[in-house]
Amino acid sequence: MISNITSDQSVLLVVKAHISYEPHNQLRSNWSTSTSVCSWIGVTCGSKHRRVTALNLSYMGLAGIIPPHIGNLSFLVSLSVSNNTFHGYAPNELARLYRLKYLNLQFNNFNGEIPSSLGLLSRLKFMSLSGNNFIGSIPASLCNITSLQEIYFYDNMLSGFIPPCILNKSSMQNIDLGGNRLSGPMPSVFFDLPSLEMIQLDTNNLSGGLPIDMFHHLPNLQVFDVASNQLYGKVSSTLFKYCKQLSWLGLWDNNFEGRLPPEIGNLTMLTKFSPWTEQL
Ligand SMILES: *[C@@H]1O[C@H](CO)[C@@H](O)[C@H](O)[C@H]1NC(C)=O
Ligand SMILES: *[C@@H]1O[C@H](CO)[C@@H](O)[C@H](O)[C@H]1NC(C)=O
Ligand SMILES: *[C@@H]1O[C@H](CO)[C@@H](O)[C@H](O)[C@H]1NC(C)=O
Ligand SMILES: *[C@@H]1O[C@H](CO)[C@@H](O)[C@H](O)[C@H]1NC(C)=O
Ligand SMILES: *[C@@H]1O[C@H](CO)[C@@H](O)[C@H](O)[C@H]1NC(C)=O
Ligand SMILES: *[C@@H]1O[C@H](CO)[C@@H](O)[C@H](O)[C@H]1NC(C)=O
Ligand SMILES: *[C@@H]1O[C@H](CO)[C@@H](O)[C@H](O)[C@H]1NC(C)=O
Ligand SMILES: *[C@@H]1O[C@H](CO)[C@@H](O)[C@H](O)[C@H]1NC(C)=O
Ligand SMILES: *[C@@H]1O[C@H](CO)[C@@H](O)[C@H](O)[C@H]1NC(C)=O
Repeated sequence: MISNITSDQSVLLVVKAHISYEPHNQLRSNWSTSTSVCSWIGVTCGSKHRRVTALNLSYMGLAGIIPPHIGNLSFLVSLSVSNNTFHGYAPNELARLYRLKYLNLQFNNFNGEIPSSLGLLSRLKFMSLSGNNFIGSIPASLCNITSLQEIYFYDNMLSGFIPPCILNKSSMQNIDLGGNRLSGPMPSVFFDLPSLEMIQLDTNNLSGGLPIDMFHHLPNLQVFDVASNQLYGKVSSTLFKYCKQLSWLGLWDNNFEGRLPPEIGNLTMLTKFSPWTEQL
């Protein structure tokens, strides 16, 4: 199929047809075939080739499903449908959007598993699925995305182990998997990751000890929150020695042992701290 702006238009009309409720009637009159797709609300076209490069339907109060046809918007770089009440599966066909850099499905009612085919989105930098009902495990295929900087999957019903490779990426900045049902060990870090700033894994069912020798690879870590898990053992003093940028440290509601090391006093940026013990 040779695609052009006319095929983009037909895809968007299929998307519109799958919206079952639209409180403000923003699309109903605006997405009209008598005007160019590029002037439609929420639609952005590329300046050179005049194809749809961004679709932003966030905060419109929309209900419905995302049809598989979305995968035909082959010039799409940015897709955001956050803060609506879309439901159903995240279609596998999203994986065909190979130019995609930004994918935001957060705060909807999506369910089903995270399609492992999303690991094919090799240019993706930002991915948020937070605040939905996603189940199943985090696909290890996501480790294949070398450009990935931010992953937000918090407040879903994800289970199983966290793929050990997920933190092992020099591009990664923020990862938030809090508020799920993830179990097994914490992923570790094996080489210096100066870009990693946030590891948020609170309110899961992770077990085992904190990985040894992880923290001296994370000189710019600002948020480390593993509160409310089943972690145990000693908290390595390297955490306090080497992660000097820490501003948020969540450790409470685990089974850690021992006292707080004196190095804690050297974390001058710390503004939010929940220790595992009252003892200093
Ligand atoms: C798009 O392609 C179809 C055939 O695939 C053609 O009929 C149509 O005229 C084209 N539209 C534009 C705007 O080029
Ligand atoms: C659709 O909405 C866009 C952005 O708000 C606006 O520029 C455009 O004129 C509208 N088109 C119609 C036909 O209402
Ligand atoms: C999408 O639109 C919302 C509301 O207009 C805006 O706040 C948000 O920044 C936009 N997102 C993107 C990725 O452009
Ligand atoms: C888009 O993709 C679907 C399958 O994902 C296909 O059935 C459909 O014919 C394609 N074309 C358009 C214009 O939606
Ligand atoms: C988006 O939805 C979430 C969850 O309901 C809410 O916490 C957040 O404030 C909403 N964002 C906006 C800008 O409305
Ligand atoms: C990552 O990509 C390689 C090569 O494309 C593939 O063989 C491998 O199965 C992928 N890994 C995962 C976990 O999907
Ligand atoms: C982490 O990355 C290093 C270097 O690329 C590699 O040797 C190692 O096997 C990776 N470990 C995991 C758990 O992916
Ligand atoms: C949490 O993990 C433990 C094993 O480490 C298991 O026995 C327990 O059932 C899990 N709890 C939940 C709520 O998944
Ligand atoms: C705190 O930092 C200072 C200066 O870097 C260092 O001399 C001292 O040993 C540190 N104290 C602890 C308890 O790590």
